Amino acid sequence: MRSHYCAELNEMNVGEKVELIGWVNSYRDHGGVIFIDLRDRSGLVQIVADPADSKEAHGVAEKVKDEYVIKIKGTVRLRGEGLENPKLKTGKIEIIADEIEIENTSEVLPFQIGENVNEELRLKYRYLDLRSKNMLDTFVLRSKVTNAIRRYFDEKGFIDTDTPVLTKSTPEGARDYLVPSRVHPGEFYALPQSPQLFKQILMVAGFEKYYQIAKCFRDEDLRADRQPEFTQVDVEMSFVTQDDVIETIEGMTKEAFKVAGIDIDFPIKRISYTEAMEKYGSDKPDMRFELPMTDVLSEFKDSSNEIFASIASDAKNNRIKALKIPGGDNFYSRKMLKELENFVRKFGAKGLAYIQVKEDGLKGPLVKFLSETSLEKMIEKLNPEIGDIIFFGAGDKKTVLDYMGRLRVKIANDMGLIDDNKYSFLWVVDFPMFEKDDKGEPTPLHHPFTMPDMNTWDEENFEDIKSVAYDLVCNGYEIGGGSIRIHKEAIQEKVFKLLGINEEEAREKFGFLLDALKFGAPPHGGFALGLDRVIMLMRKTDNIRDVIAFPKTQKAQCLLTNAPGEVDKTQLKELHIRVKKPKADNE
Ligand code: AMO
Repeated sequence: MRSHYCAELNEMNVGEKVELIGWVNSYRDHGGVIFIDLRDRSGLVQIVADPADSKEAHGVAEKVKDEYVIKIKGTVRLRGEGLENPKLKTGKIEIIADEIEIENTSEVLPFQIGENVNEELRLKYRYLDLRSKNMLDTFVLRSKVTNAIRRYFDEKGFIDTDTPVLTKSTPEGARDYLVPSRVHPGEFYALPQSPQLFKQILMVAGFEKYYQIAKCFRDEDLRADRQPEFTQVDVEMSFVTQDDVIETIEGMTKEAFKVAGIDIDFPIKRISYTEAMEKYGSDKPDMRFELPMTDVLSEFKDSSNEIFASIASDAKNNRIKALKIPGGDNFYSRKMLKELENFVRKFGAKGLAYIQVKEDGLKGPLVKFLSETSLEKMIEKLNPEIGDIIFFGAGDKKTVLDYMGRLRVKIANDMGLIDDNKYSFLWVVDFPMFEKDDKGEPTPLHHPFTMPDMNTWDEENFEDIKSVAYDLVCNGYEIGGGSIRIHKEAIQEKVFKLLGINEEEAREKFGFLLDALKFGAPPHGGFALGLDRVIMLMRKTDNIRDVIAFPKTQKAQCLLTNAPGEVDKTQLKELHIRVKKPKADNE
């Protein structure tokens, strides 16, 4: 319906007759001559409806309003000196309208296109929200990134394979979305939390190299970087070591980020899970800045403060960490320090002790609790300078590492230490195979198909068992994770047993996988990249909904379609379902 896209036109087209179609982005009536900014996917161009050129076109132009769809025929001309708009790609030219046709009208908009109104309104009228240039740019980029990824894997001989959406539960640690079966009363499909089991089966099938850009479904508490329905670039390979998978994924990451004009330094640095936790208090540390924590537990063993001394007496379960902030004493006022204390209290800290490094020595209540030799040792470790501040976290390991890690990030933000244009990638490797759940029972840190490092197998101390698992981290986000898998039935059974999954349960849930492992399963491993998070990073947004065309709210609702919604009684009957309404609070 058009001869050109609006923003394709430039001085080279002057004198040409063109036909354009798009939306009325804005219009102005300047004493008889009407100016319309016409918008299509490419951008804007100015249309001039002058009664001196065409009375008819001008007559129609008088009727148009914002977001009407109009079709115009006209001639490109130079705007002339002084009338150019340097902000517009097509700012040197305009189109003199010979004919204007209104293709469709529009009601008054609930918000202006591109206006930063509340998100609920944007989600309800998502089609209007998506009309903005910013949103369009996101989805053009997303499309180019997925294309680059597909090209990369295709060239390397990977087979793009769909796996089922109606399937059985896959244990990725979240709750499943269930779909009732009509044909099998009382039975349910689960939507896949990832294609994990199918991709392993494809390796048993001899595909050797698989990838898929797959939808995954997880019914979990939502956060700014989590959606119930999200996209993974899912990969699996046979006859590979951890290094082979990492190398393949680094290549893919390079190609993907190149699309967004971001260069990645290779190889990406690797650190162990233990180092990440102990130094940065997180298994996905933001490495755009350093600020490592230092272990100072031993310096408090002979402390005259009973609480610190008692914490220091259990080096296995407790931690005392020092976080030195260069220039921090000059930066943080007393009031701000109080705010930092309130911040860490939210994450279980009992307080926040600190030492200020002043011209006349170290200041702060902690100083007097340390023996002279311990203080000297600590100074040697930390090497502080005048104007620095050192924060201390003491208590049980998990809590201290968590709040000190969060404090590290908060301080970096407060002090402006984070360069927004930097992309800092990191591999976190050597994850523990299991962690303790709320009841102290073992639960897999990744998933139960991850290969344990059998040299570290120790059922008594299951937290010390390592796995061949790796996460890719960028700017404090976990953008992907994977592992070498168990390909031997005996090891898989051992893991299930340790997890308290008995034979019957294992057969019921994963019998098909256990069976497959009996038929010459090759050594294999893989990885899944969180595509939405990658696009978030590229677009510099911390809201995952900004990079998904039709996302759900924090309460897992789609405001456009009003899903989830009630269904017809007959539908429920067919599914053999009777709904028990939750009681209202006052019932
Ligand atoms: P994992 O559970 O670590 O591994 O998921 C891989 C990556 O997917 C992204 N991700 C999410 N993104 C948005 N919303 C969510 N709710 C969400 N959950 C996860 C993250 C994460 O790093 N089957 C394994 C992979 C494997 O072992 O090969 C898996 O799914 O970026």
